[in-house]
Amino acid sequence: MTHAAVAAHTPQFRPAFHFTPAGNWMNDPNGLIFHRGVYHLFFQYHPDSSVWGPMHWGHATSTDLLRWQQQPIALRPDALGMIFSGSAVVDHENRAGFGPTGSSPLVAMFTHHDRAAEKAGRIDRQHQSLAYSLDEGRSWTKHAGNPVIANPGRQDFRDPKLRWLPERQRWIASLACGDRIAFYSSPDLRAWTLESEFGAGVGAHGGVWECPDLLPLTGPDGRTRWVLLVSLTPGGPNGGSATQYFIGQFDGHRFTPDDTQVRWLDVGPDNYAGVTWDGVHDRALFIGWMSNWRYAKDLPTAPWRSAMTMPRELALRQADDGMWVASLPARELLALQQPATLTCRQQRIDRPLDLSAGLSGSQGRFVLRLATAALRGFTLALANDAGDALRIGYDDTAHQWWVDRRDSGEVGFHPDFAGRHAAPRLGVGNAADLQLWFDATSVELFADGGLSTMTSLFFPRQPWQRATLASPDQLMLDELTIQPLRDPR
Ligand code: FRU
Repeated sequence: MTHAAVAAHTPQFRPAFHFTPAGNWMNDPNGLIFHRGVYHLFFQYHPDSSVWGPMHWGHATSTDLLRWQQQPIALRPDALGMIFSGSAVVDHENRAGFGPTGSSPLVAMFTHHDRAAEKAGRIDRQHQSLAYSLDEGRSWTKHAGNPVIANPGRQDFRDPKLRWLPERQRWIASLACGDRIAFYSSPDLRAWTLESEFGAGVGAHGGVWECPDLLPLTGPDGRTRWVLLVSLTPGGPNGGSATQYFIGQFDGHRFTPDDTQVRWLDVGPDNYAGVTWDGVHDRALFIGWMSNWRYAKDLPTAPWRSAMTMPRELALRQADDGMWVASLPARELLALQQPATLTCRQQRIDRPLDLSAGLSGSQGRFVLRLATAALRGFTLALANDAGDALRIGYDDTAHQWWVDRRDSGEVGFHPDFAGRHAAPRLGVGNAADLQLWFDATSVELFADGGLSTMTSLFFPRQPWQRATLASPDQLMLDELTIQPLRDPR
């Protein structure tokens, strides 16, 4: 990528309902907490550059998950190191004692990454530390006794995700340790005990494990299982970064998976390091970093680099071959939908169907929904006058949903960006449903009630002007709609 291209601002590439920082580099979501009606989104942030560097925690807030307001930086590097990923909780009983009696401080646990130790070749470069806020997350004070979990001699030792276990009256911190997750417990967030480790030799191990999240989900059968999210990079199903998960039991000390099946939360290339919000009790609310370490620093956007995914709700669902975690857009997103600009009902696709009318006035923000009683192969193509095309479809032979961005516009900024990415169909039976959420430079695919999901970035040289649906297998549509999405900003 040339410097001239980086220097030019690219407002046409800025999404409307996905969070982006006003400027500079962002990666993982951190410290996700819902408190007193406000969703807090902290994030890995380099405020001085559009590439990764000394990490801070940036901060944004929202009351509706649609409009985000960027706030002052929450945490800056200090003598113990950079501020890597972590989480936040409300300390309702003031167990850590950071606030006056009767107060409920917000407490964040993050990884201090000691760059000097790293440069000196020392293994003990990552430690877990605390910070607290007594003013609803506006300002943060680092704990004087940091670190609270010192490095036990592991090069990778990071990304603590906190959860309160009422049955044990303990906090649990899940920590990524290279090829495994370690679980620590504490009564007061200050003193920590190693409980157990999970994962060596289990699941996908094509890269280092990062950003765990351990959460309970109740299945359609009414039984609660524990889900352990584990991001890894590289080694994702379509290359580079991706998030896998395990379904099993957690007895307060130890995680035991129900089986050894490898499962991916999102099979597309651009959903990484995602975790769930603390303090949201009626659902598991998730958000990920919408990028991939393979090419994140080369994405052709300026003056910011990186967006988050849409917030999503995770739920356990039964498929033919067992239990899976399905994801769907957070219900708040539905409020962005405007009246359909295109609707087709009971239509057989025996020749390419022109859907272009559906795009008029959408400004690249729309949701396309498709439902059929008998799924067949098809290709949906979006095109513009610059010769770009983004193709999305279903392969009836391979039983795969796919997204092909090889011709989608600017793809040459990194050799790993262009590609055709596929996800196995996990749906049950012939009937299928699909939703595709577009926001300027991203598409998030949710198929079969969210059992298969894919997230992909693309950078067209002009807005999409035409859309067509073709099916060599004569797909019979029950219904297809395109709805423009309101710009909530
Ligand atoms: C994941 C990650 C984390 C680390 C952070 C550093 O993307 O590598 O493991 O804490 O990014 O920015």
